[in-house]
Amino acid sequence: MCGIFGIVTANNQVLGTTLIEAGRRLSYRGYDSVGCASLSDDGTIDLRKDVGKVDEVASRLNFSEMYGKRGILQLRWATFGSPSQVNAQPHLDSDGDMVGAHNGNVVNNNELRAQFIARGMNVRSDNDGETCVHAVELYIDQGHDFVEAIRCAYHDLEGDYAFVIGKVHEERLYAIKKGSSLVVGLGDDFTCVSSDLPSILPFTQKVVRIYDGEIVTLHADGIEIRAVESGERINRPPEFIHESMEAVQKGGFPHFMLKEIHEQSTVAGELLHILDYSDQLETYLDKVSSARNVYLIGCGTSYHACILGSVYLSQLAKRPAIPVLAPQFIAQYAHSVDHQDVGIFVSQSGETKDVLNALEVAQKRGMAVLSLVNVIGSTLMRASEAYLPLGCGYEISVPATKTYTNQVIAFLYLAQKLGSYQDLGLYKLPELIAKTISIVEPKVSQIVSRIKNRNDFYCLGYGLTYPVALEGALKLKEITYAHCEGMLSTEFKHGPLSAVTEGFPVIFIAGPQDIPIIVSGINEVTCRGGYAITIGEDDSRLHSNAHDVVVIPSTNTYFNSILSIIPLQLLSYKMSMNLGYDPDYPRNLSKTLTVD
Ligand code: G6P
Repeated sequence: MCGIFGIVTANNQVLGTTLIEAGRRLSYRGYDSVGCASLSDDGTIDLRKDVGKVDEVASRLNFSEMYGKRGILQLRWATFGSPSQVNAQPHLDSDGDMVGAHNGNVVNNNELRAQFIARGMNVRSDNDGETCVHAVELYIDQGHDFVEAIRCAYHDLEGDYAFVIGKVHEERLYAIKKGSSLVVGLGDDFTCVSSDLPSILPFTQKVVRIYDGEIVTLHADGIEIRAVESGERINRPPEFIHESMEAVQKGGFPHFMLKEIHEQSTVAGELLHILDYSDQLETYLDKVSSARNVYLIGCGTSYHACILGSVYLSQLAKRPAIPVLAPQFIAQYAHSVDHQDVGIFVSQSGETKDVLNALEVAQKRGMAVLSLVNVIGSTLMRASEAYLPLGCGYEISVPATKTYTNQVIAFLYLAQKLGSYQDLGLYKLPELIAKTISIVEPKVSQIVSRIKNRNDFYCLGYGLTYPVALEGALKLKEITYAHCEGMLSTEFKHGPLSAVTEGFPVIFIAGPQDIPIIVSGINEVTCRGGYAITIGEDDSRLHSNAHDVVVIPSTNTYFNSILSIIPLQLLSYKMSMNLGYDPDYPRNLSKTLTVD
């Protein structure tokens, strides 16, 4: 999973700053390495690339001085080939007069590389982005024109990808989409193409979406889209995107993560408003209530929201729903679902490949597809019969925070509507979220100073707080690089208890209804010397049994399950800070994984 950006302008100019700006906005997609290529009229390609994040590499290699009429940028999240300078993208063809970069995975990379080497081509890296370039080179060398060569290469390159490519002494760039997302931007005297919108919107709000199986030729003054299979021209009018890019600034916070944690109160209010006025809600509720089985499908954080959503639906609406990780949905349920079943696909990005694979299977089996999705216009949103937007705006930091909170609030909203007998007063949530953030911070900082030298944790919840424990553990893992396992508190004694020695930290999340069972769990840990940290309401039973209690506002059990993730988000953030890591861009991870 990576990010690509290409631009074609009318005149030679400094392109470096534009490429850096685009790169910053694509950073959430990968940051193992970054590279830029500029092509100018004199027939040269200036290629600079290295391991590291955009700003580091850009200043080390002086991207800002890169000059030309056309430019390509790529940010890499390594799959084929280690994160190294030679595997960084873009890549040149054998004789260095063509350059390209890709996003996605070419799954027959090894076979194709071996064939190219056997043909005497100059293969420099292990990376599948280079394979895309040579795949086109092969057909250009046989005398095909560029578009024709890309059409032929498309049939050779197996997998899901998008790539952008250009050649010296031409005025154009070409891009193709097969599985990975691709959007074009149209400016007054330039066109550009990118893996997604945030890198285009600072330059132009006039965009054209590219679909699978299409090739786009970019000229400075316009584009041509062609279908790969038929070669026929496709006319697609541009859309105007009226989105503010202010949301992608840090707004005075040191990191996007902290900003996004603080935004949770506002976006929760906005979500409730969106849901109240949604024209999709009725379809949604009809489908869910009349389905034979409902599956809640997601990955990572979104999957944790599915688990909590299933508890809400069962408890409040008496509507059983099966939460399942997207790839496991295919393995476990694909054979037994049909048109009587409904899938609610949950995804921040709407582009996670594992989720889209499950979506494809569900559609083939005739299931109704609903979604909860943050990115408007994403593949998942467009494929859904009805979707509910999460209304969070851009979430830049790799660890999901505000989108998780809005996912679970959306589920609670649905459960309440389907149950229709209980008014929880959801509009109190924004204020409760803001209050939680402000009251827990000092205690969380104190706990960080006590456990800062530890790199092994457990995070335990029960019932409604079980999914919160999984999500809290994921936050800690993602940005502190520590081992942290989330689990049902009662399972701890069936094995992991053996890890507890003097001072071993175990975090408990105590829903108000589950305090007796959590207190038992705490004592099983503390009597063996373990260090018990508890998140819960101000309750003397917690204070008298745990070493530390992070007190959150007293409310009902459902709101408690929403608020209790906040101390864990802040704890992870502060631990990450303390270790000197960048929580927005944790090592080895990527916000949107568009590969298998
Ligand atoms: C990646 C991200 C996680 C995210 C998961 C699912 O692994 O690093 O933070 O939860 O993808 O993403 P989605 O966009 O489908 O919610």
